[in-house]
Amino acid sequence: MVENKYRQLVLKHGFVNEPVSVDIDLLKEINFLKRSKNAVILGHYYISPELQDISDFLGDSLALAQKAQKTDADIILFVGVHFMGETAKILNPGKKVIVPDLNAGCSLAESAPAGAFLTFKNNHAGHKVISYINCSAEIKALSDVIVTSSNAMKIVESFPKQQPLIFAPDKNLGNYINSVTGREMVLWDGACMVHEKYSLEKIIDLMDQHPDSEFIAHPECTQPVLMVANFIGSTTALLSYVTKSIASKFIVATESGILHQMLKANPDKIFIPAPSTDSTCGCNDCSFMKLNTLQKLYLALKYEQPEILLDPSLLEKAKIPILRMLELSK
Ligand code: 13P
Ligand code: SF4
Repeated sequence: MVENKYRQLVLKHGFVNEPVSVDIDLLKEINFLKRSKNAVILGHYYISPELQDISDFLGDSLALAQKAQKTDADIILFVGVHFMGETAKILNPGKKVIVPDLNAGCSLAESAPAGAFLTFKNNHAGHKVISYINCSAEIKALSDVIVTSSNAMKIVESFPKQQPLIFAPDKNLGNYINSVTGREMVLWDGACMVHEKYSLEKIIDLMDQHPDSEFIAHPECTQPVLMVANFIGSTTALLSYVTKSIASKFIVATESGILHQMLKANPDKIFIPAPSTDSTCGCNDCSFMKLNTLQKLYLALKYEQPEILLDPSLLEKAKIPILRMLELSK
């Protein structure tokens, strides 16, 4: 009955919407719940600094999928966005995978509804489907292989040159790979609402104001922005680049959460968030990632809700291209 009450709250709000007393020491409680339930907290670099600091493992999409594959915890609390929790569940059908808030989606994943994508795929007979991990389980099930921004280039290049390819759902990442590899992959028309908003004009102004800086960008950015970047890479690659580089100032075109780790690893270096077209929108923050809060994380662990549940046959189909990716990433 009690469990039912929390499931109802999740159905209504997408998370356990219960007031949390200010007297509760959330960090202490979370640590206690984690130990007593043998749970592990996996967090993406884009979540807020306080949540990054309590994650057992922090990483980019590839590292998190690899970690999810290996964990021996009974419960995985995934602090990121929905497709990441779903991927963890696909890799661990027998474990309980919970997330702080089911509303934490992704503009890329939402850009590719399964019905429309199936029609697109059917209109391109003979094409293999390569999908960026930022997509739903349904799209994964329609794909031959999954990629992340860390391994996309390598996996695309593993296909023979003459093999026609579809790349979905991120047209910017797909376009970037096409430009580097000389391929002509057919692109699905999706984009990340954070990375597509960077303003080339303002970035160039900023580079002029800081001639000693390097401009680094995530490949989800648009082509004109990528063309002026000194370095392009996944969140993990950007983090290791700024740590190794002899430069001491960086203009960073990716979600602002990563700056926390960049500063932690390089306290003497300066990191400037790249400006967006709209200076009032707070566009450097992914509003989905930022739906995760300490209170929701605590309630999720306490009630083991919201849980990611998937139809077993969909799960089995979606697992094949993810395992293929993990194999190709070794
Ligand atoms: P990576 O984690 O592969 O860097 O991708 C960033 C992203 O947009 C995740 O949603
Ligand atoms: Fe999706 Fe972009 Fe947010 Fe990443 S930053 S979760 S790609 S909307």
